[in-house]
Amino acid sequence: MTITTQSKAQDLSALVTDLDHAVRSTTGNDLETLDAVCEALRPALACSGLLLPEQRIGDPSAYRSHVLHVAPDGAFSLVALVWLPGQATAIHDHLSWCVVGVYEGAEHETRYRLTPDDRLVEAGSAIAFPGDVSGLLPPGDIHRVHNTSDTTAISLHVYGADLSVVGSSIRRAYPEWMRQPVLGEASN
Ligand SMILES: [Fe+2]
Repeated sequence: MTITTQSKAQDLSALVTDLDHAVRSTTGNDLETLDAVCEALRPALACSGLLLPEQRIGDPSAYRSHVLHVAPDGAFSLVALVWLPGQATAIHDHLSWCVVGVYEGAEHETRYRLTPDDRLVEAGSAIAFPGDVSGLLPPGDIHRVHNTSDTTAISLHVYGADLSVVGSSIRRAYPEWMRQPVLGEASN
């Protein structure tokens, strides 16, 4: 009798094995895949030695992406994103499903919805801390991530896309003028 036990991601290769299993064990339903990938990613967020020193380096000019793994057939990609204090993404959406887990620091996420007249209206916000995992499933996945703290933030992102081919997980970056000012915010 063969007993297979899923690893608990004590290093990057174990995490990749777990993610690969999660992506391929579902029937192709993206919601199922999101759940399975969330469960596979969560234990790795508590593994202090997961990333090499060079994979933790930020860039003073903008948040930085370190591609950690791309599945040979392109089924998924694993990336570490490093935000220095104050750095943020543009408002954007994604080419594929996406699972995000905070590894260090805190990340402030604001979600938006697109109105019929092409305005972005804030649809909620939350702060995620180490160990927190969330999933995004297009369409309706417009958001911005911002490191509002005074320490570096690092998160792990799993995309259902081949980043070695498409280069970026972002489908569209939305210009700021499309954003509807929130109550009390000066408009121009
Ligand atoms: Fe995103």
